[in-house]
Amino acid sequence: MTKKIGFIVGSLRTASYNKKVAEKFAELLPAGFEAEFIEIGNLPLYNEDLDAENNVPVEWQAFRDQVAPLDGIFFFTPEYNRSVPAALKNALDVGSRPYGASVWGGKPALVVSVSPGGIGGFGANHHLRQSLVFLDMPTLQQPEAYIGGIVNLVDENGVIAEGTVNFFRTIITKYVDFYNKLKA
Ligand SMILES: Cc1cc2nc3c(=O)[nH]c(=O)nc-3n(C[C@H](O)[C@H](O)[C@H](O)COP(=O)(O)O)c2cc1C
Repeated sequence: MTKKIGFIVGSLRTASYNKKVAEKFAELLPAGFEAEFIEIGNLPLYNEDLDAENNVPVEWQAFRDQVAPLDGIFFFTPEYNRSVPAALKNALDVGSRPYGASVWGGKPALVVSVSPGGIGGFGANHHLRQSLVFLDMPTLQQPEAYIGGIVNLVDENGVIAEGTVNFFRTIITKYVDFYNKLKA
């Protein structure tokens, strides 16, 4: 059966580089794996009272229902002030509750950080990994995906440099291997 991989992009920007990279990853997935892009920009900020009062916003419920049946998750994140954007952290929090009913646990994850900066969103990448440890998501360790200097890797037509795309292929191959070992 085809494995559904949720693609979560931490940037809400229309012309987001992270979104562009995520779209390329979606194209490169091998047979048997399929990308499903998950919207996070519409999620109201997490407020524990709403779960406690059983007054869950429809957007939270739709998000939880969409993520729960997925087989794995790819995260693409910009770095905001050396951490993850609030929209992405909010999505993690919304999916993690109510207590004991997290939609994340056990899903094999991939973290890709994309930035115009030279260190490729290292801070965001590792802050995200810290949350994924607590959320019990086994996460691909190597190769690490810090995609720095992205403005020089995408041309004016939106085409990503061949060497970079080859690196994406390597990451996906490693992820598929990792996924299959976990599920064996
Ligand atoms: C609030 C904010 C904080 C930022 N902080 C960082 C940062 O800490 N490190 C970094 O490399 N870039 C930082 N940037 C620049 C982003 O990397 C850049 O806007 C990038 O293009 C965002 O990703 P996107 O193209 O997918 O939207 C920041 C941008 C914003 C809006």
